Amino acid sequence: MCGIIGYVGKEPAAPKLILGLKRLEYRGYDSAGIAVRGKEGFSVYKRKGRVSGLESAKDLTGGCGIGHTRWATHGEPSERNAHPHIYGKFAVVHNGIIENYRELKEECRARGEEFASDTDSEIVAHLLAFYDGGNVLAALKTVCARLKGSYALAVMCSDGEDALYVARRKSPMIVGKGETGLYAASDVPAVAECGELYSLADGEFAVLKGGDIRFYTAEGEIRKEKMARGSAEDIPEKGGYAHFMLKEMYEIPASIANSLVDFEENSRFLAFNIVLCHTEYIQIVACGTAYHSGIAAKYAIERLARIPVEVTVASEYRYCNPIVKENTLVLAISQSGETADTLAAATLAKERGATVAAVTNVRDSSITRIAHFVLYTNAGREIAVAATKSFNAQLALLYSIAVALATAKGRAARFEALRVLPSLSAQTLAGIEEIKKVVPLFAEADSVYFIGRGADHCAALEGSLKLKEISYLPSEGYPAGELKHGTLALIGEKTPVVAILTQRALAEKTMNAVSEVYARGGKVLLVTNIPELAAREEVFESVLLPACEELFSPILSVIPLQALAYYTAVFRGNDPDKPRNLAKSVTVE
Ligand code: AGP
Repeated sequence: MCGIIGYVGKEPAAPKLILGLKRLEYRGYDSAGIAVRGKEGFSVYKRKGRVSGLESAKDLTGGCGIGHTRWATHGEPSERNAHPHIYGKFAVVHNGIIENYRELKEECRARGEEFASDTDSEIVAHLLAFYDGGNVLAALKTVCARLKGSYALAVMCSDGEDALYVARRKSPMIVGKGETGLYAASDVPAVAECGELYSLADGEFAVLKGGDIRFYTAEGEIRKEKMARGSAEDIPEKGGYAHFMLKEMYEIPASIANSLVDFEENSRFLAFNIVLCHTEYIQIVACGTAYHSGIAAKYAIERLARIPVEVTVASEYRYCNPIVKENTLVLAISQSGETADTLAAATLAKERGATVAAVTNVRDSSITRIAHFVLYTNAGREIAVAATKSFNAQLALLYSIAVALATAKGRAARFEALRVLPSLSAQTLAGIEEIKKVVPLFAEADSVYFIGRGADHCAALEGSLKLKEISYLPSEGYPAGELKHGTLALIGEKTPVVAILTQRALAEKTMNAVSEVYARGGKVLLVTNIPELAAREEVFESVLLPACEELFSPILSVIPLQALAYYTAVFRGNDPDKPRNLAKSVTVE
């Protein structure tokens, strides 16, 4: 989603802003811009499209500037809607959504002010000009008190000394000290050179000036602890792979190994284990890929621990007046830990009395401040917009929870069945290039369908989402039994259908659906761990998976589906790392 970078220091700001924006490109955006403070006021460069369009601004002089990558919410992607927004002596970049911008705009228009963009963000510059009484921090505090919604803001002023003013509510903002100056950014990779980093909490402000950073709340100045630094701040490298997505797929075995937790063995999880003993109901809230891992968790938890699990898309949970019974555990799953809908759902669940455990891949992300317990997947930073290794890592952790819940309830479940998953995933990965032989069929299709029953249903949904996201092919995933209730009408000569079949007890039932597709001329790609099925005449092509505990098979079966999406996207000339219109973390509602 949108990205922010700011710099104030001894060196020219422009190259640092452009570099920072390049490092934020993976978040997804459709326009970019920078503003640098010079002797004659601001120099502003904005471009629709890629950050590389800003290269001509590199020679600007001036050691104070702000930059932004915009993912359009209010107003089309265009230069006039790109940030920074300038009004009077203020330049502003904003992440988030100002929900009451319409009424605030009316107020400004009534004073005769005109707006240069269609965005909600521009209102901040107008209000700063209105409330400016010579103290920029005071004006910013007053403006923030008037805003409804979410924001990370970086502001600079064309008069006075070089300085940046930043604020945060429900949208990440960090500040840091580097060798040549001070930085502000929405995400760590943008400021990887900083030796010291500080993460702002909701309601906090910072002023970056004269080589020093000072922190404030609405009430007054505060002290802040430095952020602990881990591998998260590493500058992303493709490491010889053509794309981050491919590299991240090859990191799946390590991400599974690092995310499995033997809760019984690990005393760090004692308190969580006690919660598991008392848990009678589970609700899972998540979006997109994380929602699909929730569906896999439902199958595993209900089967192993016999505890009822409800999986709800987070954006629905928050508005469905959810019933939270006593002893309910809510698992809020979010790779980024910043998805606005998941944060809101987790907050609501907590207010209604649930114990909330966050499953996230990002240390210190916003969801970790909401949840009672934080369970980290250790997949490492994921750069490609399409989630791959983080999904497998989520499954590893959620299956670990299923085993722990079963044990807590006195039911038989073996953690050992999970220990083999890293090596089985490596075996699966070793064969992924095979999938290339069906890519031309898929790449030219009008639409593609994915079907699976039981535990295989989640892989069908995730395979379909991956294909949509990066190949832009219309695609749907269904429980296999649903095909005949409508979708069969869409199957014709050469329609590709991916059938995932790893549950022996359900094999013949799913093969019925395969036969129905074959009878109508459709081409079935069977992803299975049952070798004899691959030889059936109804099967056009097959991928044979290594045998594993059936309940956990989605962690393997999704791998060829991720590969299918990747190679199809590349075949169609798309950039799989930066799909159009999509963002890595969706920080707006
Ligand atoms: C996955 O490929 C997608 N980019 C998207 O569906 C994603 O999973 C969803 O936005 C949720 O993100 P989160 O896990 O960071 O909360």
